[in-house]
Amino acid sequence: MRGNRKTLITSALPYANGSIHLGHMVEHIQTDIYVRFLRSCGEEVIALCASDTHGTPIELKARENGVAPEDWVARFHTEHQKDFADFDVKYDAYHSTHSPENKYYAELIYGRLKEAGLIERKDVEQAYDEKAQRFLPDRFIRGTCPNCNSPDQYGDACEKCGATYAPKELKDPKSAITGLPPVWKSSLHLFFKLSQKGEYLKSVIANPAFMNQGLAAQLQQFFKNGLADWDISRDGPYFGFAIPGEANKFFYVWLDAPIGYIASTELWAKQNGKGSALDYWNEGAQVRTIHNIGKDIVYFHCLFWPAVLSAAKLKVPDHVQIHGHLTVNGEKMSKTRGTFINARPYLEKLDPAYLRFYYASLLGSGPEDIDFNVHDFRMRVNAELVNNLGNLANRTLSLLAAEDMGKKLAPPSTADGKKLVETALARVPEIRAAFDSWDYRAGMKAILELGHAANQFLTVHAPWKQKKTDLEAARSALSDAAEVVYVLGALLKPVVPKLADTLFRQLNAPELTYQGLAKAQYPLLKRDNPIGEPSPLINRMEEAQVSSLVQAPVPESVKSVRPAMAAAAPNAEIEYGDFAKVTLKVGKVLAAEKVVKADKLLKLTVEVGEPTPRTIVSGIAEAYTAEQVVGKKVVVVMNLKPRMLKGIESKGMLLTAGPGGKDLVLIDAGAMTPGAEVK
Ligand code: MSP
Ligand code: ZN
Repeated sequence: MRGNRKTLITSALPYANGSIHLGHMVEHIQTDIYVRFLRSCGEEVIALCASDTHGTPIELKARENGVAPEDWVARFHTEHQKDFADFDVKYDAYHSTHSPENKYYAELIYGRLKEAGLIERKDVEQAYDEKAQRFLPDRFIRGTCPNCNSPDQYGDACEKCGATYAPKELKDPKSAITGLPPVWKSSLHLFFKLSQKGEYLKSVIANPAFMNQGLAAQLQQFFKNGLADWDISRDGPYFGFAIPGEANKFFYVWLDAPIGYIASTELWAKQNGKGSALDYWNEGAQVRTIHNIGKDIVYFHCLFWPAVLSAAKLKVPDHVQIHGHLTVNGEKMSKTRGTFINARPYLEKLDPAYLRFYYASLLGSGPEDIDFNVHDFRMRVNAELVNNLGNLANRTLSLLAAEDMGKKLAPPSTADGKKLVETALARVPEIRAAFDSWDYRAGMKAILELGHAANQFLTVHAPWKQKKTDLEAARSALSDAAEVVYVLGALLKPVVPKLADTLFRQLNAPELTYQGLAKAQYPLLKRDNPIGEPSPLINRMEEAQVSSLVQAPVPESVKSVRPAMAAAAPNAEIEYGDFAKVTLKVGKVLAAEKVVKADKLLKLTVEVGEPTPRTIVSGIAEAYTAEQVVGKKVVVVMNLKPRMLKGIESKGMLLTAGPGGKDLVLIDAGAMTPGAEVK
């Protein structure tokens, strides 16, 4: 027995820089099922997560939105926790990497690395944006790929040909912040001597209990030319923790991010009177540590993190569980294709139990991608969760609750009903082993088979007919089916906790756990206890509910053509020829009306010196009423590709000045006649 085993488990810390989506939910649901499963087995579990808050992308995104980075991440910190809670995902602590605890442990660990002689100082030449006055991370440099000449590629890799290169090799590089070509500047950086941990790491990752061995083999490539030392510092301005003893240097976000696991442990320990984080992270601590992560961050968790921990004389994780990525309808989630599904819109339309059930039936223990196929999702949930399991429970319990049966169960049977229940119990160890080894797919398959067998049993006995001739025989069959419902409730509780609780309530039986199942014997239900009040367990998923999750493809004309560079570089110089491509003319507004369901839009009829006036939809409705604009002379961008706005084709655009919203004025074309060129 491992009743005393204590597990500390984490999910990767989501960046507090955007909303939680169904891809994140794979990981959080997977972790949560594991946590609930272990607890059901009677084990002690500490489930932790936190917001990952530091780094350049977060800082710049915050500024772009006109708020301080602290406020920006706080917003998502709250939002993320609400999303998880509404998916029935529970953490014992959800801290933040921007916290005093994390600063404390980041400094402690850095101090230990330094003491061990594992920090080295080296000059690094880096791209520097003189206007923004900051060094540019590779992802903030764009230019032409040195390999295939594709324009507008990142500073470290080409999305077109897959080549990777040093930012300096990029042709015609530009800063994604200002659009200016960067200069190359040298600066002192701090490196963690990962190279000295090579042999140690090789042995860590070769342990099949530590990680998936297919992925470990992929990591071996890094050892070929010797592990490169790891640059753990960044120059300011940087949203992060200042490095003690250094001027204007900060810890790289990926140094303090995993330390967030320790900071969360500290928060939990403090809040629950359980000592300090070091009781769980010191070498030799009596706890099993597991990180659940996606395959994109293996490098950080299976090389850097164990190296840092062991160098700092802390406990290295026992297991890193690695899952694949979620695709939607067979492709990477994509905003332009309308297949990017955030957690909140899902929750507004659908029961979280559907998704928990679906992910559980797809997830194996390996890092294979899983696909959220909208059609398959609905089919599977309706066929298995609603029909197989839901109807089994509902048929059984509502027949037992009917007037003739009066909610009473039969005494234990000796016939095939007993055998049905015992066969189900005999499969519990197999199901338990499947969940214990993260093979939820195998566990779910076995559970569904038990449901099918019980439905089969009901079909054969047909108690709804049998009761007319032999009420007690019908009651006996239904009572044994109810036993299976009870077992299924216990088996499914980690996956769909609320549903399982409803089942226990309807059976009027105490909660059954995996621990309880391990020693359960027929009959499990107290047969002289009446059952509770049955009601349908879960609704069918309707086509309309799911189809609205994924939007129809966005028409080519409205798709923004990767404006990254253009939008990020408002002050970049352009050629005269670029400007000359824009045709501007004077227009006169002939008529105006509000656009339904769009507070900001006015639909205008504008005379521009063409045979027929143009329809232009303009975002000025917060600044002008329809009456105020009629008769106005305006400046019109004539040759903008027509766009569909709220179902209206807009041909052209009006020039305005000001920040927008209420504070905006139309550029006045004075006394010029409509159709006159503006140059
Ligand atoms: N902040 C880092 C993790 C730091 S851990 C010390 C990070 N954040 S993330 O928000 O980008 O991703 C968080 C987790 O969600 C990662 O494990 C990542 O693999 C997972 N997923 C993000 N998109 C995903 C899918 N589309 N599918 C499945 N998981 C995905 O990385
Ligand atoms: Zn290329």
